[in-house]
Amino acid sequence: MQTLLLAGWMLATFGWLRPIVASINYLSAQPYSKRLLKLIHVVLLGSAAIITLVGFAVFAIRLLSPEAIPASPLEMGYVGVGVLLTSWWLADAIRWQIACRTDLDEERHIRRMSWKETLQGHPEASRWLGLPGNEVLLLEVAQRSIRCEGLPAAASGLSIAHFSDVHFRNGMPLDYFRGVFEELARLRPDVYIFTGDLHDDPECVRWVSELFGSLHAPLGCYFVLGNHDWYADAVQARIVLEDAGWIDLAGRVLPLRDPSGEIVIAGTEFPWMGDLPPLSLSPEGRFRILASHTPDLWKWASQNGVNLMLAGHTHGGQIRLPILGPVFAPSVYGVRYAGGLYKEGSMSLHVSRGVSGRDRLRFGCTPEITRFVLKCSPRVELAKASPAEASH
Ligand SMILES: [Fe+2]
Repeated sequence: MQTLLLAGWMLATFGWLRPIVASINYLSAQPYSKRLLKLIHVVLLGSAAIITLVGFAVFAIRLLSPEAIPASPLEMGYVGVGVLLTSWWLADAIRWQIACRTDLDEERHIRRMSWKETLQGHPEASRWLGLPGNEVLLLEVAQRSIRCEGLPAAASGLSIAHFSDVHFRNGMPLDYFRGVFEELARLRPDVYIFTGDLHDDPECVRWVSELFGSLHAPLGCYFVLGNHDWYADAVQARIVLEDAGWIDLAGRVLPLRDPSGEIVIAGTEFPWMGDLPPLSLSPEGRFRILASHTPDLWKWASQNGVNLMLAGHTHGGQIRLPILGPVFAPSVYGVRYAGGLYKEGSMSLHVSRGVSGRDRLRFGCTPEITRFVLKCSPRVELAKASPAEASH
């Protein structure tokens, strides 16, 4: 009985952390000021630390006591509820695994690169970068071919390079980003889309002209900003990106000058800045691409006829635990949209793990850039190949 109670204490302590982590994720998705968010994090992480310490202290007292200590009803209740709460962890892990689809690719090719050996001792590098297992100086270059419902036949084969959350800041060597942007340039897509969080330090904005200015695409380079740009200096970020030749998509719906002439591209920085784009004003039947910093707008996007949504913000969780996967993700949906390719109704949603982050720690969550090749559905391909046959 005593052993069972001790095991229960450990499990309950772990379980009671779950509502705190859920609160952190939900509140971090809100458009609060940086100062208020910091206060919320201090209070909630402090509560988590107290729960853990009390849990371990009671465990130690019971373990070291020569006689069995009878459990009070309050103690039994705490353990019972806490053990039940551990199932919340498992349910979230399973939901993320199911939601994050790996079966949507026609083709997928992934290449992993590392600058860890060469840059972890760099004078510009923070000591965090050299931690064993830290993946912040790695990069995954993904080339994915996906079927998109509603894509016009004339646009089949359109390529989009999507990247997000570069978080330029001191402590990360500029040479790492030079390597990432060289890889982005090698992808040679029809369109580049960057989904926000350009910087955390306004002084690193000077990197933009060299790095973003090195990318060119026949159908354009588009961006929206993110919450960290809002905290740091969104006005400056917008100016330097536009000066580098990038097109601001925030709150706008623009035609994409592709051969089909039937694609529109929209963007939003909501809820931190601006408005939702007026998608209802674009003609019916157009293939709609939405760039949004947060994936939390997926329901609005799906209801407004978006066919392909590209987002970032959640960084893949940055730290993924064995079995449980990601734990922290600033989303009202918790870790469900931490990163990956999703299908919501007829809409495809890609949530990038991002290139970097304010916190320079990544475990089991490599930075990524992705090149998509869009393919139309087999029905549209059939109609294109044989219009007479398809009409019957
Ligand atoms: Fe970010």
